[in-house]
Amino acid sequence: MRAILIGPPGSGKGTQAQFIMERFEIPQISTGDMLRQHVSEKTPMGTQVKIIMDSGKLVPDDIIIKMVQERIKKPDCSKGFLLDGFPRTVKQAEALAMAGVQIDKVIEIDVPDDEIVKRLSGRWTHPASGRVYHTTFQPPNRAHHDDVTGEPLIQRDDDKEETVRKRLAVYHTQTAPIVGYYQRLSLRDPQGLPNVIKINGQEPPLVVCEEIFRFLA
Ligand code: AP5
Ligand code: MG
Repeated sequence: MRAILIGPPGSGKGTQAQFIMERFEIPQISTGDMLRQHVSEKTPMGTQVKIIMDSGKLVPDDIIIKMVQERIKKPDCSKGFLLDGFPRTVKQAEALAMAGVQIDKVIEIDVPDDEIVKRLSGRWTHPASGRVYHTTFQPPNRAHHDDVTGEPLIQRDDDKEETVRKRLAVYHTQTAPIVGYYQRLSLRDPQGLPNVIKINGQEPPLVVCEEIFRFLA
């Protein structure tokens, strides 16, 4: 299965990706996590993209497309994968199609902007695994520490309210149109692929997860 998670910043893509990976045994490919890895390792690409990410803008399409194309060639993607945060522009979606990658399922997680700002101010993450917590909605067993490894959790540099609002504006103008792109693709495809669904992301994480599992089953 090749699936895509689309949704505004903080809609729960990373949270749901953890459940989907485990249940369907496919890797999560989060372009945000991959970029943050470059930033933390201070690679040349990391240095280049850090300023862009901290400002809430999108990293140039050519960098991202190359990074994803290399990643999906790895053996762990042979049975499928879950894209989290990619594609994020129509150009990225077209590049995926041009590379012959057929997508089966597209999940749009819908959460209103004001809810997003609340969520991101309380988010803590475990960078090595991608596990995500929230001080109120999904607290770790021990404050600021990962449940599985016990390692310290971090807060992201781009979760300041001003940057979150910028990321939301970028989402509405540049990313939301890819839902229409996939709906049109589905209408033209003989098998109706990809299947596209919009899910209410305001329910608790496990309720959102059940709805996603029903769609993917
Ligand atoms: P990226 O890392 O992809 O960030 P994002 O899309 O802004 O999304 P987030 O990771 O912030 O949120 P999420 O939807 O994963 O939510 P989460 O599960 O953590 O991208 C970062 C940057 O990298 C971009 O701004 C851009 O610069 C660059 N970039 C990345 N990909 C790119 C691309 N393809 N092209 C160009 N540039 C790219 O949940 C959030 C919080 O809410 C958590 O605390 C969680 O515990 C809580 N929560 C989750 N679900 C619920 C729920 N149902 N109820 C209550 N709380 C919940
Ligand atoms: Mg995420």
